[in-house]
This record gives sequence, structure tokens and C-alpha cells, in this order.
Amino acid sequence: MNIESISLLNFRNHKNLNVNFSPKLNFIYGNNAKGKTNILEAIYYFATTKSFRTSKDQLSISTWADTAVVQIVLKKSFGSLDLKMIIDKSHKKTFYLNDEKLNNPSKILGVLHAVLFSPDEMKITKGSPEDRRDFIDNSISELSSTYYTLLLRYEKVLFSKNLLLKKRASLEEIDVFDLQLAELASKIIKQRVAFIDKIAPLANQYMKYLTDEKENLTLKYSSNLETFIAPGAILEKLKNFRLKDLELGYTSIGPHRDDLEIISNDKDLRSFGSQGQQRTAILALKLAVCDVFFQTTGDPPILLLDDVFSELDTKRIQLLFSTTNKYQTIITGTRFRSKLAQFNKIKL
Ligand SMILES: Nc1ncnc2c1ncn2[C@@H]1O[C@H](COP(=O)(O)OP(=O)(O)OP(=O)(O)O)[C@@H](O)[C@H]1O
Ligand SMILES: [Mg+2]
Repeated sequence: MNIESISLLNFRNHKNLNVNFSPKLNFIYGNNAKGKTNILEAIYYFATTKSFRTSKDQLSISTWADTAVVQIVLKKSFGSLDLKMIIDKSHKKTFYLNDEKLNNPSKILGVLHAVLFSPDEMKITKGSPEDRRDFIDNSISELSSTYYTLLLRYEKVLFSKNLLLKKRASLEEIDVFDLQLAELASKIIKQRVAFIDKIAPLANQYMKYLTDEKENLTLKYSSNLETFIAPGAILEKLKNFRLKDLELGYTSIGPHRDDLEIISNDKDLRSFGSQGQQRTAILALKLAVCDVFFQTTGDPPILLLDDVFSELDTKRIQLLFSTTNKYQTIITGTRFRSKLAQFNKIKL
């Protein structure tokens, strides 16, 4: 798939902007605060229903307006689709597909697949286990709404169980919740491990490619439940931890406490990576996710690279763009570089 054009009306700093994209490489450039990232934000809304900058949709509406409208013409193998999002100050956001109003924002999911790299994504290596779980969960959720629902159910049951723990409820009362948690946890871990197994070899290939074979990348899902993936075994573990959890007032084991190990040349990048190494590793991860999206849906996703140049040397940048050819790529930067001659240039 590829985006043919986007129009932004009162979205962030854009009063009325129309941009046409090439199906291959696109470079949006201009000075700071020109609204480059805002364009990527608008596109990514259609992939996730959410902004990657804020949880308050209202902030995306231009300060001088009451309504923001984003329209995209998306080319798919079978033809073009018109996508529209309206964010209203008084109402929630609404999505439209070929002018048909969707009764729930989640209905837009699966129409436009995009993979985003932004400076904020550095949290995948620099941040907390939660940031890494979010990376895994958001990636799987883009492909499977069932997984997203599964996560929500798990969080709900976990929340209720933790309330009981805080109240120091009886073990019998907690039993009911542990039974459900074990079932849900088993499914979540299984899908996360399967996803990591899919992206790991690809991410390793990309890492080696981007570093001229100098650095490799190993990913390992690390669960506090170790290999106890079957619901029965998880339940046993949960029971073993009950007394401790009653003391703590929360559930100390389960997929909500898991992490992803990111290792390059035997060093844990979470603690030891240089800025450039971490950035390269995250790019390798994101490219691997693109490939998995492509394999799973049969349609190449769109790659959004915000401010990717800083901290990458020229060699890595050159290698990066020689690999992104198979995807429509939209990147942003502050100044034009002659290396990007093959790009469709969009000056803001
Ligand atoms: N709701 C809004 N209404 C009007 N302007 C807004 C709104 N939200 C953000 N902006 C403005 O948009 C501009 C930032 O846009 P953006 O972050 O896309 O810039 P950029 O071109 O990516 O800059 P940089 O090169 O620094 O990354 C800021 O000037 C900000 O004040
Ligand atoms: Mg920016």
C-alpha cells in the first residue's frame, strides 16, 4: 500500500496543507517547528487510531479552530481508498472510509499499516520494561485486534485482583481471578514469544546489514514465568506468589512484568549501547516489524521515519536507504542532503 496524498485542515500548525507522495522514497524537509512531525502524526493516527505525541486528541486541533480534518488517499493493490478523520472539540474523533462513517475508531484498524520510527522510540532501549512491552503489544495489536482485546481483558482482571490483594481478601476470592489470569497470561505470552521469534532473525539481519556486518542483534523475551507458558503451570506459580503478593498489594508476576532483552555483540544495549548503536538497533527492529507486517498481510506497510539522521553516520544512512526501497518511506529532516537525490522532496 502507499499514500498518494494527504490533506490537513486545521491539524496542529497546518491550516490547509496538501501533499502528494511518491510510492517510494519521500523526504519532508524544512526548519524546526515547520510541522514535519505533525504530518507523520496525522498519518499514524490511521494506523493506530491514536496520536503518538499525546493522549489528548483535542491538542491535535489547531489552537484557532474547533475541528481538525485529515484526509488520505490510500492506494492498495485493488484500488484507492479515501480515508478521513475528523477531530471535534466537543465530540470524539470520527473516522470515515470512502465517505462512510465508522461507528467506532477501532474499525479503521487494519486499513492502513504503518511502522514509525521517531526519536521518542529510543525509549525501546533506553526506557523501562513497560516501554518494551508497549513496543511488542502495539506491534501485535496493529495486526490483530483479538490480541488487543486480550490485553484489555488481562488488564481488567489484573486490576480487580490487585484491588482484592490490597483489601487483603481471602485466598478463595483471589482464586477466581488467578484462574482467569492464568488463561489470559498464557495466551499473551505465547503470542509475544511467537512475535519475537518472527522479528528476531530479521532484526539481526538488518542490524548486520546496517553496520556492515560489525554488529549483530539478539532478542530474547524474558518472562518472570520462565518457560511456564501453559495455564496450569502459570496458575501454580501465581498461587506460590500469593502470600508475597498479599504483602506487596499487587501481582508481582505475569506478562505485565515481562521484558525484552536487546543484545548486540554480547552487550545488553539497554545499559551499554551508544546512541548510534541504540538508534541502529531500533531501526533494525522497526524494519523487521515492516517485514513481518508485509508477510502477515501480504501488503507492504508504510515506513515513517521522523528525524532519523541525527546520530547516524553517513555510511549507516546510506545503507538504511538502500534497504527501505521495498516500502513507501516518508522521512523528515531539517536540511536537504544531496545523498537524497532519489527522494521525492517536499519542502515545508
Ligand atoms: N494544536 C496546535 N495548534 C497550532 N499549532 C500547533 C499545535 N500543536 C503544535 N503546534 C505547533 O506545531 C509546531 C511543531 O510542529 P512539528 O513538531 O511538526 O515541527 P517539526 O517540523 O517536526 O520540527 P523539528 O524540526 O523541530 O522536529 C510548533 O510550532 C507547535 O507550536
Ligand atoms: Mg519534528
